[in-house]
Amino acid sequence: VNDRDGSEARAKVDAPFQVGYVHRLRVTRGALRPDNGALAGVLPPRDEGRSLVFIDDGVARAWPDLADRAAAYMKANAAPPGGPVQTVPGGERCKNDPAALERILAAMHDARLCRRSCVLAIGGGAVLDVVGFAAATAHRGVRLVRIPTTTLAQGDSGVGVKNGVNLFGKKNYLGVFAPPWAVVNDVELLETLSDRDWRCGFSEAVKVALVKDAALFERISGSAEAIARRAPAASEPIIADSAGLHLRHITEGGDPFELSRARPLDFGHWAAHKLEQMTDYRLRHGEAVAIGVALDTLYSREGGFLGRAEADAALGCLEALGFALYDEAMQDTATLLEGLEEFREHLGGALTVTLLRGIGRGFDAHEIDPALVRSCVEQLARRGCGRRRKAS
Ligand SMILES: NC(=O)c1ccc[n+]([C@@H]2O[C@H](COP(=O)([O-])OP(=O)(O)OC[C@H]3O[C@@H](n4cnc5c(N)ncnc54)[C@H](O)[C@@H]3O)[C@@H](O)[C@H]2O)c1
Ligand SMILES: [Zn+2]
Repeated sequence: VNDRDGSEARAKVDAPFQVGYVHRLRVTRGALRPDNGALAGVLPPRDEGRSLVFIDDGVARAWPDLADRAAAYMKANAAPPGGPVQTVPGGERCKNDPAALERILAAMHDARLCRRSCVLAIGGGAVLDVVGFAAATAHRGVRLVRIPTTTLAQGDSGVGVKNGVNLFGKKNYLGVFAPPWAVVNDVELLETLSDRDWRCGFSEAVKVALVKDAALFERISGSAEAIARRAPAASEPIIADSAGLHLRHITEGGDPFELSRARPLDFGHWAAHKLEQMTDYRLRHGEAVAIGVALDTLYSREGGFLGRAEADAALGCLEALGFALYDEAMQDTATLLEGLEEFREHLGGALTVTLLRGIGRGFDAHEIDPALVRSCVEQLARRGCGRRRKAS
């Protein structure tokens, strides 16, 4: 057998192999009440390893007895605790601070967790990302059960297979693909979110609907005001369907670890990730995603792929949910456009950006015209000014 360099391989083996996973998702209310069996039903066997609980400090403040309830619940249903409940600083700072990751790993080490042990992570997307990264790398992977506590984490990242932290000023530079052992969405925990964090999850719901599911988009549009008012009957089914679409993309989409170039769930994210960085995380991920989705929707229209009415419906829906579609940081379009190259580099290979040819119909584009992006940014700026004038 001749190798590329002409030298001869003594043997050649190309043996494909698969690894099987089960994605377990439960939706419940009051997951950590002693009589609620939803979480107990998906915890790893009690006689294997130990358990350790991590909780987002924002969640612990909002629910002062939750850490104790988690400890009692795990004592009754999980492997023996390897240590006390650990608090992790909530929000993006835990992904930006290497010391936070180190403390989490040290707690896992001190608890003498083994690969069959169970880490329970309770928190927003940021805490789940960093605890997930630590769990996936300690001993090359400890079982991780997630209780996501934000709309964004319940509808998107909690069911995802990505874990990671920010490094070198870049979002998610350090990370791994690792499916969780189980995910339990507890709708009750969402009650204490700020309005701002409440809203954030719905930009990801709009994102996935625009790319994959026109009927879901219609439902979000039709109930946007009720969602903004936090009416549970309007919001809970949307979060559930968003989680379902994200989960099915992973389990049935044929590319859970994103080996191909297409990344439809990253619609709007090249700009979103760059804007988070440019604003020093003043913008939340969900807020930046709303802007990124608006930008790539406008771009789809200006590029001649998407109709005017459909683009207006998408932007109108995001605004009705309460999102601003422009941020002053976007004045620096040159830096914003660097986000395209960073996005390409993060994915690998040729640039692939999802655009829309209809509501619910994403497609892959491999070229983005910077001049057209600039013109879309200007349109969003004018639209933002118009809305501010109307509001005042
Ligand atoms: N891994 C993935 O696939 C994936 C997908 C999308 C987003 N993300 C990441 O998720 C992060 C954003 O997560 P997020 O939007 O969930 O917000 P977040 O984790 O940044 O949390 C926002 C704030 O809400 C607080 N909080 C969380 N739950 C609360 C509750 N129930 N009551 C009161 N306060 C609460 C937190 O302490 C924090 O201060 C970003 O880092 C983003 O990159 C990851
Ligand atoms: Zn996202």
